[in-house]
Amino acid sequence: MIHPRNDFEDAGQGQVFRFFDDLPAAPQDALTREASGVDLSEVSRLHETLVRNPGAGNEALADELQPAEFIPLPRNGGDAARWEEAFETGEAALRAGRVAAFTVAGGQGTRLGFDGPKGTFPVTPIRKAPLFQVFAEKIRAASNRYGKPMPWYIMTSVINHEETVDFFERHGYFGLGPDRVHFFSQGLMPAVDEEGKILLAEKGRIALSPDGHGGSLRALVRSGAIDRMEADGIDTISYFQVDNPLVRCLDPAFIGFHLLGESEMSSKALPKAYPEEKVGVFCRNGEGRDVVIEYSDMPERLATERDDDGQLRFRAGSIAIHVFDRDFVKRLGAGDDPDAVLPFHKAHKKVAFVDDAGKPVEPDSPNAWKFEMFVFDALPFAKNPVIIETAREDDFSPVKNAEGADSPKTCREDQLRQFARWAKAAGLPVEADKTGLPSVAFEITPGFADTEERFVERVSGMGNEKPVIVDEAVIDDPNP
Ligand code: UTP
Repeated sequence: MIHPRNDFEDAGQGQVFRFFDDLPAAPQDALTREASGVDLSEVSRLHETLVRNPGAGNEALADELQPAEFIPLPRNGGDAARWEEAFETGEAALRAGRVAAFTVAGGQGTRLGFDGPKGTFPVTPIRKAPLFQVFAEKIRAASNRYGKPMPWYIMTSVINHEETVDFFERHGYFGLGPDRVHFFSQGLMPAVDEEGKILLAEKGRIALSPDGHGGSLRALVRSGAIDRMEADGIDTISYFQVDNPLVRCLDPAFIGFHLLGESEMSSKALPKAYPEEKVGVFCRNGEGRDVVIEYSDMPERLATERDDDGQLRFRAGSIAIHVFDRDFVKRLGAGDDPDAVLPFHKAHKKVAFVDDAGKPVEPDSPNAWKFEMFVFDALPFAKNPVIIETAREDDFSPVKNAEGADSPKTCREDQLRQFARWAKAAGLPVEADKTGLPSVAFEITPGFADTEERFVERVSGMGNEKPVIVDEAVIDDPNP
């Protein structure tokens, strides 16, 4: 085998091996392995096309944008019979064992600043159950209801893979069984300096970081997860992020709309709360394809435009909840079709590196370019994309930041509001303020009920043993 050092030198990236000869054998091997995983022509193409010659802005294209169509909730004018049909179709698919849950958990979670994989963050109000546990309990609840042990695929990255797997082992896979939880690591991309030179994080280590949540599609293929799904009769993948404990991991109506629409990729949308809200927006481009336009790329005049009824015209916000057709992921993830390739995006970041003299440098302003793929960029390649409306309070309260919006505090309060709503719907006495926040903190576990309907049904069957809502109450099922 030709040593990758030669290729790096030929590509003008010889600096990666600058300290190689001084390294002991084990770090030399490690660096060689890391270097073998780098696609040098991809790195050079991305630097050339995204950094050196980024091309004109997309203002002209923005002129062609229209709002994407979506299926409204019944309470906002959607056809209730169609929602019912979708629900039943989704339930049938779940019962038939056609669906896998899929969590992308390879991110670095820098904004939250939590020490550990984000999925291990204690998120629920009373039990302080970690995010992974909440999803596991929801998947377990669905498995019990539909009589099929649903598999769960979790994408990690080298940064958190071992810690994540250890966490599941230590917690007995939260009752799911190791044969049902499948971990795989996503791809990595090197950070480059202004000149496109690959940076070294240490003398024997390339500055690599995960290739974005869009990297999940090729990682599903490269890891063999897609083949495994095929062998197990799974054709539908329910995709969600690790940071959102409200998400309905396996939502029958959503899965049903996806299947009824013969869609390759379906998405949930929620009405943006205000024009500046930092979520991408579902739009239809000039070629008639649905796309997600990032909030930073959305021209202000479009972001603030209103319909006659005063609603934002471009209001369908993307919340990173999707259903994928397995063969679509296989097609896109394999990367064989030059007309269906996820683009990379650049991000200017602070990246610690070692300089020419081997001295570690901690930059205090962005010094490097990182390249990432975004999963929503798959949308324009999908046949029959389906977008359905969801309600924020039922599906979305992510933990992104240590404080302020989308923080542990807002997420805790949104969970409490959901529990209070369910309790009220079941006729239990709960006091709440005008935002719906209850005066006492309590928690309903997914093992007891994972939807409002289920909660109401269980409570109404409980006679005199109904749960009492007091501070720190945990409404749980001892035998979920
Ligand atoms: P975010 O865009 O919120 O990024 O990821 P992050 O890395 O978690 O957090 P910051 O930006 O560093 O603060 C959204 C979802 O996509 C996953 C994350 O784990 C999260 O579930 N993700 C992101 C990946 O799986 N891989 C990536 O490379 C990036």
